[in-house]
Amino acid sequence: MQHNNSLNTIIRSRRSVKPEQYNTTPIAESIILEMLENARWAPTHARTEPWRFVVCTGDGLKRFAEYQAEQYKLHTPAESFNANKYDKLKTTPLKASHIILVGMKRQETEKLPIEEEIAAVACAVQNMLLTATANGIGAYWSTGGITYHQAMKNYMGLGENDKALGMIYIGNYDIELPEGVRSGIEDKVRWEQ
Ligand SMILES: Cc1cc2nc3c(=O)[nH]c(=O)nc-3n(C[C@H](O)[C@H](O)[C@H](O)COP(=O)(O)O)c2cc1C
Repeated sequence: MQHNNSLNTIIRSRRSVKPEQYNTTPIAESIILEMLENARWAPTHARTEPWRFVVCTGDGLKRFAEYQAEQYKLHTPAESFNANKYDKLKTTPLKASHIILVGMKRQETEKLPIEEEIAAVACAVQNMLLTATANGIGAYWSTGGITYHQAMKNYMGLGENDKALGMIYIGNYDIELPEGVRSGIEDKVRWEQ
C-alpha cells in the first residue's frame, strides 16, 4: 500500500538521538511548535488532554540545568554524592537546542484510571518524536536526572496527583544514525482466528 510508506518509514527510522550526538545548530521554533501541535492530536479518553509541557531553550536550559544539579546536591547525602553526575546534570542540557519537560495532569474527578492518562501522554510524546524524525531532527525521551523526584514536579508546577514523565531532548545532528534493533513480533502476539 503505497500511501502508507512514508508513515512506516518515519516510524521505523525514528531513533533516540542523544545530547552527545547533537551539533550546535538551533532547532527552528516552527518545528517545536509543530511537535506541540501534533502532541495535541494524541488520543485521549474522555478528552481530558492530560499532557503538560514545559519548553526549555536558551537561558531556560541553563536555569533547568542549574536547578537539577543543585537539587541533586541538596537531596544526596555527602557520602553518596557523585561529582561527575553533578557536572553532567549541569552541562548535558546545554548540549540540546530545546528540552521539553513532560507531565501528566491528573483529572480532578480521578474517574479515569491513571494508566489511561499516562498512556495518553505517551501517545502525545510519540507524536512529538515522530514529528522530529519527519523533520530530520534528533530527539529522545529521557527519564534520567531528577525526573521522578518531587523537585521536578515543583519545577513544572505539577500537583500532588500529577506526574512528571520525563524530558524530550531535542537537537540537530549530522551523524549517521544506526539501524534500529528490535526482536520479531511473533512471540508477543497470539492470533485467535
Ligand atoms: C519511557 C521511556 C523512557 C526512556 N528513558 C531513557 C533514559 O532515561 N535514558 C536513555 O538513554 N534512553 C531512554 N529511553 C530511550 C530508549 O533507550 C530507546 O528508545 C531504546 O534504546 C530504543 O532505541 P530507539 O529509540 O533508537 O529505537 C527511554 C524510552 C522510553 C520509552
